[in-house]
Amino acid sequence: MKIGFVQIKPRLGDVEFNVKHAVDMLRRAYRREAEVIVLPELFNTGYLYTDKKEILKVAEEIPNGFTCRELMRASDEYSMCIVAGMAERCGKDIYNSAIVVSHGEFLGVYRKMHLFYLEKKVFKAGNLGFKVFDIGKAKVGVLICFDWIFPEAARILALKGAEIICHPANLVLPYAQTAMLARSIENRVYTITANRIGEEKRGNLCFKFTGLSQITSPDMKVLVRASKTREEVRVIEIDLKMARDKRVTELNDIFEDRRVDFYREILEKHILV
Ligand code: ACM
Repeated sequence: MKIGFVQIKPRLGDVEFNVKHAVDMLRRAYRREAEVIVLPELFNTGYLYTDKKEILKVAEEIPNGFTCRELMRASDEYSMCIVAGMAERCGKDIYNSAIVVSHGEFLGVYRKMHLFYLEKKVFKAGNLGFKVFDIGKAKVGVLICFDWIFPEAARILALKGAEIICHPANLVLPYAQTAMLARSIENRVYTITANRIGEEKRGNLCFKFTGLSQITSPDMKVLVRASKTREEVRVIEIDLKMARDKRVTELNDIFEDRRVDFYREILEKHILV
């Protein structure tokens, strides 16, 4: 199966440009026969909104808004599954969401559960749980950016059958690319992190995005990694059998070996000793 990512530099607030540009990049992925492509977090709006009023102007309904419809059309034309981060308006609430569209159809939406830093002033935290989508050839789970630091999130997706974790991102800290290797080996799944490049400045705030989008394998290899500064489309072939085999030795299956009776504390908010 061929999977990949698009690494781009969205323009803050210019949805029309960002969507058109992403679709141009998706065409390049199509020429390389990609079957699953991940776009960055908030690829259609850019990242640095300082309050809810501001982002309300560019957030869209899912699946009836412009961005979702354009990506459904692209996924049909290019016969692929696309996972893309975007700002979602639902009534008065705004979510940092990712859509999954495949071969012209809307499969669903994931709303970011763990909001990063100033996102807490702009977005409502996700309320739909962790979702796995059956796209025919594979089962894909979705996390968004800072979700990476909560291993529970990737674990739940893997337990629900995800073979590929699609991870739209706007990373600013230097840790996630390495941490996603751990998410891969501890769940024996592929991960696709689609990060963005460039920087956004508002007043005293400046966010520099780290690029280095990547795909990791169930045996903890970086199969492909993009540059820090260039827009790129990368597509590689993977063997899904690897993600379906949870054994690390003949005698160790990482799902079967879990000691769930002793994991109850993980559900407590705080452990007082
Ligand atoms: C992030 O969650 N966008 C760092």
